[in-house]
Amino acid sequence: MNAPFFISKICAHFPFPAWQKDASLRYIWANAGWSDFSKNKTDSWLGGTNFDFFDKEIAQKIEEGDRYCLQAGISEEEISLTNSKGQERILKIHRMHYYDESNNISGISALAIDITYNKVLLRQMENIMSEVEIQRHALHKNALITITRADGSFIYASEPFCLLSGYTQAELLKTNRFDIGLIYSAEFLQSIQEIQPYETLRFETCAKSKKGEEYWLETLLVPMITETEKNYYEISCNITASKLREKLLENEVKDRIIEANANTLALEIRNAELIKLNEQMHGMQHKLLQSEKLASIGQLAAGIAHEINNPIGYVGSNIGALDGYLKEIFTMQSRYESSLEKNSIEYIKLMEEKKSIDYDFIKDDISSLIIESREGIKRVKGIVQNLKEFSRIDSNQIWEEADIHAGITSTLNIVQNEIKYKSEVILDYGELPLIKCVISQLNQVFLNILVNASHAIEKQGKIFISTRQQNQHICISFRDNGKGIAAEHLSKIFDPFFTTKPVGHGTGLGLSLSYGIIQEHHGRIDVHSKQGEGTTFDIWLPIKQE
Ligand SMILES: Nc1ncnc2c1ncn2[C@@H]1O[C@H](COP(=O)(O)OP(=O)(O)O)[C@@H](O)[C@H]1O
Ligand SMILES: [Mg+2]
Repeated sequence: MNAPFFISKICAHFPFPAWQKDASLRYIWANAGWSDFSKNKTDSWLGGTNFDFFDKEIAQKIEEGDRYCLQAGISEEEISLTNSKGQERILKIHRMHYYDESNNISGISALAIDITYNKVLLRQMENIMSEVEIQRHALHKNALITITRADGSFIYASEPFCLLSGYTQAELLKTNRFDIGLIYSAEFLQSIQEIQPYETLRFETCAKSKKGEEYWLETLLVPMITETEKNYYEISCNITASKLREKLLENEVKDRIIEANANTLALEIRNAELIKLNEQMHGMQHKLLQSEKLASIGQLAAGIAHEINNPIGYVGSNIGALDGYLKEIFTMQSRYESSLEKNSIEYIKLMEEKKSIDYDFIKDDISSLIIESREGIKRVKGIVQNLKEFSRIDSNQIWEEADIHAGITSTLNIVQNEIKYKSEVILDYGELPLIKCVISQLNQVFLNILVNASHAIEKQGKIFISTRQQNQHICISFRDNGKGIAAEHLSKIFDPFFTTKPVGHGTGLGLSLSYGIIQEHHGRIDVHSKQGEGTTFDIWLPIKQE
């Protein structure tokens, strides 16, 4: 079998177009693949030329290639043809001339490969590549990108990164990520050591630019790992603005919290003020109640004093008269007795009568009855005087500018007898102006308090009296180290008739009287006491009366 025939047999069923021509470029054969592109879809190629099977223009182009191959030995060429389905295909034709037995060029063999797909793919690839290149360019022009080695040295830094960090590309390539103000946590350094291919790492970094300005980056790190090295591709966002906003917000929140705390404090202060006001109101209410009680008891006392005053007056004077009369009767009787003869019947009878009525006893008893009655009347008068004072029926209401120290001194003189055996009085006078007051009434108050103090001292004790001025008020303080007042009694001691003293010793009027007097002076009495330690009465008085 000669060679061309052999090839024609093999190529008959090839998917590629193939053909063979003689030296005058007439077809010896062509396979079905090539027939698919011929205009008359013929099977009988033998003897025909390109112009028999293709349009003139194409036939010419193929012919040119054939001629070139005859001379050069091989040729290659791309040609666009339409197949039987009307599809345009690009074929790459490879030709080779061949020789006969006597070594003369006797024709050409050709094989065509359909490279339409390759062309399309190539074009698409080229498009993609140029797109990628544009994107890459855009990215590196606009994004903060760095590539570093495992030791931190820079391989690459994009223009925006250079701009932000303040270093030139050349400077960065000579340095290390740890030397340009970027601060990394130990945790981050650990993570990039352990990162595996296809893993990513997202982190925030605070950094200082070459100029010393602070900036913040949020970075996505992708490792680029080969057999020999591990580099890191990092793309970052500049989050400085949002960090600053965050800080501002944080400060604002802090400010708000401080403001809120201040408001709370103000509220607490106001609350405390209100509580204090409330307490004062309660105190005032108590005082009002106290003064009302005083007023009605005062009226009662005034009535009683008035009612008792008259009878006690005439009982007193009657007893005086009775005493006189009795004395006269007794004188007369003793004169009559001594005029009688001692042994006379009259005398003996008189003696017997005297004995039967127990005359001597009666005589003695009458005088002691009179003394007791006088004492009783004196006590009743004392009570009436107390009641009068309490209701201030006949108090001399003279308001004058008085010296309080002088008042205390004169009162001390009066009570001296009552207190001198048990208590030592210690004075601590401050500078006091003259006070507008009814000094006789204030003296009464001092007296009541001093007497109470001495009553409270069981054996030996001390009474301290101190005075001082505070703004428009003065304070007179009486302190004793007596037995003190039981807590449950503290709220009652200013009540009229409240007393803890045995019958006949206390009237329970002293403090309520004092309370009323101080109230009329627009002042106040405070009491502090602890049982077993002592008691303090502070009297506050205004310097002037409005
Ligand atoms: N300095 C004091 N120490 C202890 N208790 C006192 C003192 N002052 C007053 N008291 C108590 O207050 C009560 C009332 O006093 P007061 O009104 O003067 O009446 P009185 O002295 O007649 O009992 C007294 O009975 C006593 O219990
Ligand atoms: Mg008293």
